[in-house]
Amino acid sequence: MKFKTEIKVIDGNPDLSFLLSENKKLFVTDENIFALKSLEKFFKNFSVLNKINSGNTQASLYSNKNNALIVIPAGEKYKTIDTVLAIIKAALAFSLTRKDIFTAIGGGVITDLTAFASSIYKRGAKVEFVSTTLLGMCDAAIGGKTGCDFEDYKNIAGTFFPADRLYVFPEFVKSLSDKEYISGLAEVIKTALLFDKKLFNLLETQKEKVLSRDSEVIYKMISLCVKAKTKIVKKDLTEKKERMLLNLGHTFGHALESRAGLGVLTHGECVAWGTCRALDLSQKLGLCSYDYFERVKKVSASYGYETDVVHKAFTDSKAILETMKNDKKNSSSKIRVILQRGLCKNIITEIEDEKILEALI
Ligand SMILES: NC(=O)c1ccc[n+]([C@@H]2O[C@H](COP(=O)([O-])OP(=O)(O)OC[C@H]3O[C@@H](n4cnc5c(N)ncnc54)[C@H](O)[C@@H]3O)[C@@H](O)[C@H]2O)c1
Repeated sequence: MKFKTEIKVIDGNPDLSFLLSENKKLFVTDENIFALKSLEKFFKNFSVLNKINSGNTQASLYSNKNNALIVIPAGEKYKTIDTVLAIIKAALAFSLTRKDIFTAIGGGVITDLTAFASSIYKRGAKVEFVSTTLLGMCDAAIGGKTGCDFEDYKNIAGTFFPADRLYVFPEFVKSLSDKEYISGLAEVIKTALLFDKKLFNLLETQKEKVLSRDSEVIYKMISLCVKAKTKIVKKDLTEKKERMLLNLGHTFGHALESRAGLGVLTHGECVAWGTCRALDLSQKLGLCSYDYFERVKKVSASYGYETDVVHKAFTDSKAILETMKNDKKNSSSKIRVILQRGLCKNIITEIEDEKILEALI
């Protein structure tokens, strides 16, 4: 399977009217996005039709001449197989064929769910995305990973199914809550460290503009992230090699995220902390300089992330190590981590427990 998404980064206020089609289409969004002022005009094209119930998911169905719209409850809590089936029920209600299009308008939850539903609907229909969160634009909407959660397992059911088209309107990030914006920013910092010195320089020198979501700066920042992620997934869609690099900070971060209790810390807060741990380990192993580790820590702290070795949300380092050992990304008894020799000098490696623990205490 090849990565074949056509991506457009579009400046200015989002006007989605061009997406309405003479052919059948199913739009999928969540309640928060449905209520956005910036999309009021677009959603006015639809009239309410009925409810769709699927297990614990209650969604609302709308339609206009040829297009339908399903609005699902917002949040990770609804990233379930029930919601995937609600989307499929809506597609069936509108007799969508494999040639028709599912259009997701939303963050990572909506794009993952919609792409999963479209990938299994009649063995694969078309899907396109309008990404509306910083995390979605820079990460989730690019690269073809789809899925939903099940019981306590995140993204445990899913497929590789790249969208046909992705529309990125950086202006959408202006209505994100600070919490969501800062969470997405951790992936931007990670991308800069891995692949883009200019982007890291922008994050170091233009903090005020990044935080105030200056239009020019967010456009540049998001465009650079889109370019970097696209380049990697074109080389390695199914994460056999280079794509693993995108897990910088994630092995440590995921362990903290689950130990702190899902939802206590944002994904971004955990990734930022985990990235500092990966670089602390890198300098302890003599791979990168102490100065580089300190430089990254300083930038991370300047955006408000916890950089101390013991995170106050969960202080038991040995328990974090245990969780890291269970991470599905390990291929042997050692723990796979992404380390660095310096800015944009990346290493994929496996490390013994004792060494990992040294970076956690
Ligand atoms: N497929 C991948 O490669 C990949 C990569 C990273 C993350 N993910 C997945 O992405 C999900 C997280 O994505 P997310 O952070 O975008 O979460 P999300 O989709 O839940 O969006 C976060 C919140 O912001 C709201 N929102 C969305 N756009 C908005 C806007 N423009 N203005 C105001 N509010 C808005 C949403 O309603 C939601 O409440 C996780 O489920 C994760 O597993 C997938």
